Formats: sequence, C-alpha cells, structure tokens
Amino acid sequence: MVSEHAPQPAAQVLVASNRGPVSYAVREDGSLEAKRGGGGLVSGLSAVDDKMWVCAALGDGDREAVRRGVGEPGVRMLDIDAGTHADAYNGIANSVLWFVHHMLYQTPVEPVFDAEFRRQWASFEAYNRSFAEALAEEAGRGAAVLVQDYHLSLVPGMLRELRPDLRIGHFSHTPWAPVDYFRLLPDDIAEQLLRGILGADRAAFLTRRWADAFIGCCTEILGGTGRTRIGVHGLGADAAFLTRRAHEADVDERMAALREQVGPGRRTVVRVDRTELSKNIVRGLHAYRALLDEHPEWRERVVHVAFAYPSRQDLAVYRAYTAEVQRVADGINKTYGTADWTPVVLHVKDDFARSLAAYRLADVALVNPIRDGMNLVAKEVPVVSDEGCALVLSREAGAYEELGEHAITVNPYDVSATAEALHEALTMPDDVRAARSQRLAEAATALPPQQWFLDQLEALRRG
Ligand code: G6P
Repeated sequence: MVSEHAPQPAAQVLVASNRGPVSYAVREDGSLEAKRGGGGLVSGLSAVDDKMWVCAALGDGDREAVRRGVGEPGVRMLDIDAGTHADAYNGIANSVLWFVHHMLYQTPVEPVFDAEFRRQWASFEAYNRSFAEALAEEAGRGAAVLVQDYHLSLVPGMLRELRPDLRIGHFSHTPWAPVDYFRLLPDDIAEQLLRGILGADRAAFLTRRWADAFIGCCTEILGGTGRTRIGVHGLGADAAFLTRRAHEADVDERMAALREQVGPGRRTVVRVDRTELSKNIVRGLHAYRALLDEHPEWRERVVHVAFAYPSRQDLAVYRAYTAEVQRVADGINKTYGTADWTPVVLHVKDDFARSLAAYRLADVALVNPIRDGMNLVAKEVPVVSDEGCALVLSREAGAYEELGEHAITVNPYDVSATAEALHEALTMPDDVRAARSQRLAEAATALPPQQWFLDQLEALRRG
C-alpha cells in the first residue's frame, strides 16, 4: 500500500487555471461531495502522464476540502485567502480584464482606475504569486507548464524568475483587445500584463485575430514580443464524447420533455450560453421578437429555446443582466403567446443533458456574441444535431474564422439583420441545411481537445 505521505514524483507536465477540474460542496451531513467538470483541458490532459493541475479553491466546499486534505491525485488546489481571491477573480479578472478583452465597458462612465482598483490589483498580484510559487514547487526539472487564461496573466513572468529551467506556455481562452481599447488600462498595468505573458516561451491564442491583436499591443507598448513565440490553436469540439453522451437515456428523456414544450410540427431556434454579458442574449431575444413582427407567418410555427445558465452571480452587473434576459423573454411571451404556443422557452438552471437534447432538436442555432474567444456551442450543435441545423453566427466569435463560410453570419449589434438571418435560416431547404450542417461539423472537429493540447505541448517542448 502506498503511504499517504509518500513524496509525489515531480510533475513533467503542469497545467494552471483558476477553475480546476473538480469542485466540492459540503453536504448537509458535513461530508464532501466532489463534482468533476468537463471541457477541453480535462479531455486534453487525459492524454499525458506525470501531470499536475494547479487551481484555486473557489468556494467554501473547496476550501474545506483543502483543509481536510481531501483531493484528487494530480490536482493541487490553492487555499488562497478568500478576500484576496475575490479581489483578484471578481474585482480584476472578471470586472477589468474580461471587460477589456470583450470590450464591454460603457466608456462614458467606466472604467474608473482609482485607489480601490490599485488595492484590488495588489490582490491580483498576490493571487498570481501563489500560483507561481506552487508551480515552482511542483514542477520537475525542465518540465512544461501550461498557464491558462487572463486570470493568470502575471504567472509566466513570476515563474520564469523562480524557475528559469522550465518551459512555460500561456494560453488565452478569450479574445485579445485591440491596442486602442487595451490602452484604457493604466499604462503601468498594461505593461505589466504584457510582460507577465511574455515571461512565457510561447503565448498562444484560439484564433489568428486574437494573436495579432496581442502582437499589436506588444509592438505598440513594448516595441515587440521579445523572445516569446506566438501560436494559434483553435480548440475543436470533442465529437467522440459528444455523440456518445448525447445518446444516453437522460438526454432522450429531456428530448421528450422539450418536444412537449415546443409543440408538434414547430421549428426551433436554440441557444445555450452562460448568462454572460458578452453572449448578447438580450439582443438575440430582440431579434427573435423582430422576426415575429416582420415575418408574422412564423407565429405559432417557431419556438425560441433559450438556455441561459447562471454565471458570475457575485457581480451585480451579471445579476442585472440575468433579470433583463428574463424580463425580455417574459415580454415576448406576453405579447405574442397563445393558449397553446409559448414563443420563448427560457431555462436558467444548468442541465447538460437538456443542453444536448436541445442541440439534437435544433433547426437553427443562434450564436450571436458581441465578442467571444471561440464559442464551442457553435461547434457542438452541428456535431450533435439529429437532422442538421443552420447556424446563425456572429462575425465577432472566434469560431467565425473556421465556420463562417458555412454559417449565416451577422453583425451582433444589428438586431434587424439578425432577425433576417433567423428567417433565412428557418426557410433553408432541408437538404441544403443538412449539407451545410455536415460541413460545419467537419470544420468544428478539425482539432479535437486531445490533439489541441498535445500540439501545444509539443510546440512548447520543441523550443
Ligand atoms: C471563459 C473563460 C474561462 C472560464 C469560463 C467560465 O470561458 O475563458 O476561463 O472558466 O469562461 O467562467 P468562470 O468565471 O465561471 O470560471
């Protein structure tokens, strides 16, 4: 039997991210319940041995797990002081960096960089330092460390100082802001962020567009990217997993329930998102309302199935946005609904099996973000859809680069044009729709998660 205290062999591949692959909740009887997450990284990392995932404890359950010494092999959860974590995650990462890269500010009144911002920034530095120190402790000699996302922008630079022997990569899952917008940040902060990422041997992005924006910022602000190489890896959908999972019994059950809610013979416009400002759910609802106004022939014949799952509810602006989504959906149902037709079926409780059921049913998928690093929903729906779906896709989603040719593309701010795109998608002949859906699915699965991860690892090690 292996003793609990046997030293772990030093890891050769390390991943660092704010949100880890597992989270814990305290049950009523005091015991801990582990929930495992999915996603590209979990699947990608399953392809390698001698690995370690460093992540933050996010809630009380996670903190309790760390204190009780409960955990998964190969996962180290950092019990960063709750106030420091809140400042770093809610205050800086999600309220500043996310807003900059997605261009979400209402600039006449925000952002305001004041003393409170500086206080939170100090927490962001401390939080990044905790990650850098943990990685420096866990990494074997010459190991590859793959640092994920905007939360950990400062880690590569900090880690490089602690452990010059490591191969360090940084991956951005978000867009990168164009230089004029990036320069909203205070000059020293903008510089610190760029230098943080440039501490990596390689900085990688989901599309060429975001990589070029990053290079543009480095060129303008620092005079170049130094020795850091820039890569592009467009994460694709996991077809093998999705098609298997989408045909399990719970998904069939959800399909039956959804069919009932939609009603016989009706078409569906499906969207599935976190209730996230950048996803543009409210304009999507306005576009659907405009469709019912401009093309009354669709009344009673179409249902908008909209899943808007809770996200970042610690932030007041996200709570307000969630309420607005609900209000606009209710308004449409009140104005147009009839005794046996509910125009918008809105669900706000997360349910993966029901999402897959909606993917299978979808005639049209609506993916209209203001700006999005990739948007995997756009890639997943065509893969899972039973009879092929038409995709209405924002040109501001990273997925546009790979899928745009086979989608109906829209300017996400143009509600009238989005309504027309929905009409075009709904009237597409079945054979055309099936053929285009097939091409979407092929483009969407070009780089499955394991290959996506292994490509990055190989490029990093190649040096
Ligand atoms: C985006 C980010 C991820 C983040 C996810 C969910 O995809 O790029 O880093 O994990 O949103 O957001 P959350 O704040 O709930 O982790």
